[in-house]
Amino acid sequence: MVESTRLRSDISSKKEFYDLVCEQLAALLGDERSWITNLSNASSLLFWAFRDSHLWGDAEGAVNWCGFYLESSFFPPSSSSSSSAPSGDATTTLKLGPFQGRPACLLIPARAGGGVCADAFVRRSPVLVLDVHAYPGHIPCDAETNAEVVLPLVLGREQGGKEQGGKEQGGRALGVLDLDCLRVGGFDAEDVEGLGRVVQIVLRECDWPEAT
Ligand code: SME
Repeated sequence: MVESTRLRSDISSKKEFYDLVCEQLAALLGDERSWITNLSNASSLLFWAFRDSHLWGDAEGAVNWCGFYLESSFFPPSSSSSSSAPSGDATTTLKLGPFQGRPACLLIPARAGGGVCADAFVRRSPVLVLDVHAYPGHIPCDAETNAEVVLPLVLGREQGGKEQGGKEQGGRALGVLDLDCLRVGGFDAEDVEGLGRVVQIVLRECDWPEAT
């Protein structure tokens, strides 16, 4: 049985919030290696931690979507021909993975300019969006979303990559962690830093499919 992961309601800083979330996440994922199982619990833990903490507004106004998109090759083949890029097109497609929130779009072609998730994946660096309505290519999944932060999951780049041509080098991009918020400017650099720690735990605690 999983111990309670409910955050204390007296959390008063993002530093304290992410310290606790990281501690709980490492404990929650520690006995399991399946990526689909661990990403399911990671998205749930994060979603409810944000809503319980009140740091992002009241529970209803806080984070409204939290989850993962992953390379479509991780999933069993789909009968739908739209589940991958057209033949001859080498573009990777991101597919909806474990999440919490309202239903979201299933597939995102990972092309520069193709939305927040695609940009974070292609650049291999976080994208912080204060107002999604001003972001070129933003894909609206929940009309109520106003801010978004997306971090790439890059395996084997724990030491940090060098940037070249607007893209971080090194490692293997597996997918992204995406969070949506109802408040304009709801996320900031501290969230990028804290969620970066979350991503490192997720990368470390799962077995990932071999590259195809
Ligand atoms: N807004 C994202 C799409 C995913 S949803 O927010 C869950 C984007 O522009 O890529």
